[in-house]
Amino acid sequence: MLSGDASRDRVAAARPLVLSLDDSPIAAAIAQELGGEDARFDSRRFPDAETYLRVDAPVSGRDVWFVARLDRPDERLVQTLLAAATLRDLGARHITLVAPYLPYLRQDQRFRAGEAISARYVAEWIGREVDAVFTVDPHLHRLGGLSEVYSIPAVAISAAPAIAEWVAKNVERPLIVGPDEEASQWAEAVASVIGAPHTTFLKDRRGDRDVIVSGDVRLDGHTPVLIDDIISSGMTIAGAAELLRTAGAARVECVCVHALFAPGANRALAAVDRVVSTNTVPHATNAVDVSPLIAAACARAPE
Ligand code: R5P
Repeated sequence: MLSGDASRDRVAAARPLVLSLDDSPIAAAIAQELGGEDARFDSRRFPDAETYLRVDAPVSGRDVWFVARLDRPDERLVQTLLAAATLRDLGARHITLVAPYLPYLRQDQRFRAGEAISARYVAEWIGREVDAVFTVDPHLHRLGGLSEVYSIPAVAISAAPAIAEWVAKNVERPLIVGPDEEASQWAEAVASVIGAPHTTFLKDRRGDRDVIVSGDVRLDGHTPVLIDDIISSGMTIAGAAELLRTAGAARVECVCVHALFAPGANRALAAVDRVVSTNTVPHATNAVDVSPLIAAACARAPE
């Protein structure tokens, strides 16, 4: 005869466990889609700023979906790796890290002698602790895919359908504009869902906060909607918005996937009438919910 605890554990083990360190609507959506148990890590900081962690749910033998917020990664990566190591130690059968924003993908090469190739190192750390990673629109500039740095299965989910839906509902006669060549992939994807025209500018980055955006555009009565994956300093969007104003735009809209908003970004974005973002990174501009897209991708994952 099984004790109450043992039988509770056996029933729970049949359901996936969805865990996060905070109240994540994305974790709740995944749990609902998978019929899983939605649970939190009990976490706090010791006085010396180290992290205490505890899981208040049976873990042994279970498939675990661990949803982690990774903007400001230098503050959050250690916690995330500790959490994953705890899950492994407690006997999780399979651990998938769901990082709606996956950081450290930009420094993917050694541009100058002696530089760290951070994209590779961080991918190696994560790959040692979890079995798979899911993310939304990773910043793949020179990388052909996540598999160039991740040796575990790594799934990239596109936010384009959710962004396209927002644009269709909120902007009349949109012209989708990618502020640089790299953003043309998102501009094209969004434009093709709603059948809107699109164009792309060119960008010359001379420093962290020093970018020159150039290009020609004819508005023909359309409202430009800038689409980019990341807003960090805001300078890319500011440069593109300035061009659009020069071209006669009375209103400039902007949608980004990951609202990183470094200090000073709000000031830089004064040239834009409205900025909205997806909820991959919690921020005041969040208006596009990508939880259903993430949850559906998790449900499609092979057993
Ligand atoms: C870059 O190349 C990305 O797609 C974004 O355009 C870039 O990360 C935005 O950065 P910032 O807001 O600092 O200009």
